[in-house]
Amino acid sequence: MSIQARVNGERLIRALADFAAIGATPSGGVNRQALSPEDRVARRLLAERALARGFSVHQDNAANLFIRRDGTEHALPALMIGSHLDSQPTGGRFDGALGTLSAFEVLEALADAEIPTARAIEVVSFTNEEGSRFTPGCMGSMAFAGVQAVGDWQGATATDGARFEDELAATLAALPEARMRQQRAEIFAFVELHIEQGPVLERAEVPIGVVTGVQGTRWIEVTFTGEAAHAGTTPREFRKDAMAAAARAIAELQAEIMPCDPQARLTVGRFSLEPGSINVIPRQVSFTVDLRHPDSAALAEIEQRLGDTCARAGAQAGCILAIERRLDMPPARFAPALAAATEAACRRLGIASWPMTSGAFHDALFVNRVAPSAMIFVPCRDGVSHNEAEFVADDHILQGAETLLELALDLANRREGL
Ligand code: GLV
Ligand code: MN
Ligand code: MN
Repeated sequence: MSIQARVNGERLIRALADFAAIGATPSGGVNRQALSPEDRVARRLLAERALARGFSVHQDNAANLFIRRDGTEHALPALMIGSHLDSQPTGGRFDGALGTLSAFEVLEALADAEIPTARAIEVVSFTNEEGSRFTPGCMGSMAFAGVQAVGDWQGATATDGARFEDELAATLAALPEARMRQQRAEIFAFVELHIEQGPVLERAEVPIGVVTGVQGTRWIEVTFTGEAAHAGTTPREFRKDAMAAAARAIAELQAEIMPCDPQARLTVGRFSLEPGSINVIPRQVSFTVDLRHPDSAALAEIEQRLGDTCARAGAQAGCILAIERRLDMPPARFAPALAAATEAACRRLGIASWPMTSGAFHDALFVNRVAPSAMIFVPCRDGVSHNEAEFVADDHILQGAETLLELALDLANRREGL
């Protein structure tokens, strides 16, 4: 006889600690970047746990990992839940891992209670959500949604020099027990639990954010090329100083973009220069710009201003400018029916919830293009994320996982479309 499904909080918190040990950094964070040896160890651990519980394990050609608990009605497309297991180089223990391991806990809780569902439930861990080792981010979910194909990233090189195709092949080969499956399996809906990565829920003392949409992101790489010359002997009018161009451009962008629009976000997160000698005028400087805005038109206008500002700075320093856009994620709106179902799940559980948009991008943004998607946010301490100090209180972990379980049970037993 079946009993009521309950999240096993102790097991989930232990699982989070077990995975945090893979790629653990001395400061208490995680360095488990996409397709790295650490990423492979984490995927293996999840696959082993899945097989031990009798779930089936699959992967596709983007190394997205799927763990499936069959439903009773085989003709119905599966409900998918999950997130990602890769991290930033100095990432936290919860970004991605919380959603993936809570989704796995949902499968275990249902199996413990011997509760069948009409639809299969699949846990997914998408490949390279973060985009820090290989650009762009969300490769796995883009491939899943058919937005881009794995072949589009041939030749991509990691920050550590590794080649994308080699690392992808090694990652796929490291899990021979996973059955290969086609890209773009049809699914009913997707739900991703994630930490908020900002301060809103914590400040409001609300444990669950019901995410209604995601702001847009563009990643741009700016390169100024001038001429290397002697630092001491080259008078001002003879200099083609790529650093002078970059410094001016960045200072102007910081002064122009965010102060004029409180919804805009601009971050220069990576910077490199050549030849990098104390007494040589830099020949070339490259930097990345992460631009975000909830409105597509505003994002396009900011990118245009960025181009104009960099062109002016380059001209003033006698340098050539090259600009390349590496990623374009338009803002997304999630299915209102799924947000309503999430709110209803919270009400049934007696957990307060709050609608909000996401400042970070997520795999759900791409899955939303092929199936209705939803996200559940939980607070993280001081809103800190992409940081080794990232922390989520046990109560919030449990409330997030319980909401995911309640919502998954509702959706996996719906026979009609949303
Ligand atoms: C996701 O990691 C983001 O940068 O929003
Ligand atoms: Mn994440
Ligand atoms: Mn992240």
